[in-house]
Amino acid sequence: MISLMIKKYGDLEQSLEFQEIPVPAIQPDQLLIRTQASSFNPLDYKIVRGDFKAVRKIQFPQGIGRDVSGIVEKIGESVKGFRVGDKVFSRIDENLVGTMAEYVVSNEKDIALMPFNLSFNEAASIPLAGLTAYQSLVDVAQLSSQENVLIYAGSGGVGTIAIQLAKHLGAYVTATTSAKNVAMVKTLGSDKVIDYTKENFMEQGRQFDVVFDTLGIEHTLNSFKVLKPLYLLLVIWMILQPNN
Ligand SMILES: NC(=O)c1ccc[n+]([C@@H]2O[C@H](COP(=O)([O-])OP(=O)(O)OC[C@H]3O[C@@H](n4cnc5c(N)ncnc54)[C@H](OP(=O)(O)O)[C@@H]3O)[C@@H](O)[C@H]2O)c1
Repeated sequence: MISLMIKKYGDLEQSLEFQEIPVPAIQPDQLLIRTQASSFNPLDYKIVRGDFKAVRKIQFPQGIGRDVSGIVEKIGESVKGFRVGDKVFSRIDENLVGTMAEYVVSNEKDIALMPFNLSFNEAASIPLAGLTAYQSLVDVAQLSSQENVLIYAGSGGVGTIAIQLAKHLGAYVTATTSAKNVAMVKTLGSDKVIDYTKENFMEQGRQFDVVFDTLGIEHTLNSFKVLKPLYLLLVIWMILQPNN
């Protein structure tokens, strides 16, 4: 099969190439998915750039991508929840990357049936960003109705899902974005949108129960100026060390 592979650290244009590799074998609790769509996340380019070299070195060549949607081609003998031909989507395990390939292996526990109203492209855009937003706002923050949440980068992959999820949970949502994305971020359900090119979010005062920070650095430090005392700052921005 054809798979996009990382052949060395560096920029995306220099470091990636399509290679012919064997179709992967599956374990009893795994499925083989015939890929229809896959998506890139910031994590993928950060890995190619070498940001995570210090904690997890790549053995080249390595596949790229964690999100996939597709059709079940083969199931392991202990798989109970899926059948061949099912339309599924998945955020695959770190040990199984990548998804920019004709076939992808994923563990049964990491796969869900695709909602009927989504296209393959739409479904492939959801897993990693969706899980990030869900785990942050539901599992960690336990965001509840009437809480006041500030979401940075409301137009991003994580932010667009986080806004909709926070509204679904009944929270009052303020989101930041730049002028060109203000209208889109409003349509996602934000109660208030701050165009960060014109307004500083710190002028909001200490009114937020939760700040969801995907931007890091000075945003993380400044978050304490808008959080109510002893309330929750969620930081998912990550970079360890850009390396050469
Ligand atoms: N995607 C994931 O599943 C995932 C998982 C874990 C962690 N993360 C981390 O979370 C971060 C965001 O990921 P993402 O997938 O949402 O990225 P993304 O889709 O590339 O979106 C980034 C957004 O940041 C906005 N932005 C840039 N500067 C801003 C500022 N000063 N204030 C407010 N918004 C600003 C941009 O919107 P404007 O054009 O409006 O400025 C853009 O839409 C990354 O560091 C990533 O590594 C992502």
